[in-house]
Amino acid sequence: MALVYVEQLEHLDVEQMQETHEKEVKILNEIDKLAIQYSMDKSKVGLLEEKLDAYLAHVKEHFANEERLMIQYDFPSYTMHKTAHDMFLSELDHAVSQWKNFGDIKKIINFVYKSPEWIVVHINTVDAPTSEYLTQKMALEKQDK
Ligand SMILES: [Fe+2]
Ligand SMILES: [Fe+2]
Repeated sequence: MALVYVEQLEHLDVEQMQETHEKEVKILNEIDKLAIQYSMDKSKVGLLEEKLDAYLAHVKEHFANEERLMIQYDFPSYTMHKTAHDMFLSELDHAVSQWKNFGDIKKIINFVYKSPEWIVVHINTVDAPTSEYLTQKMALEKQDK
């Protein structure tokens, strides 16, 4: 069983958003597998840490890209959407600092295990309407050219 499935996410018409979400699901499920292996064999810590670092980089890039698109196309609810990202990032940063500064890898693993719930709700209720707006704006832009 995977931690999260692509089918739980609303399919978005903005391709780069959809691809990013699918990649994030993939990374989360890879972390899940590595965390299980690590729980049985502590020497696997390096592989798990590498994947966690990839997840951090991916989340930051994921949010930054959506924010860039929202600014580019004047999305009216930009502040609300960005605030949601910032709140998630501040919790993530807290878990990362527990891990990096105090060697508490459990904090970040727990965060990762809780994150699908947030991600599914965020994508289906915040990213989906954003993608609808962006899709319309992008179509208009094409017409004007
Ligand atoms: Fe997203
Ligand atoms: Fe988002």
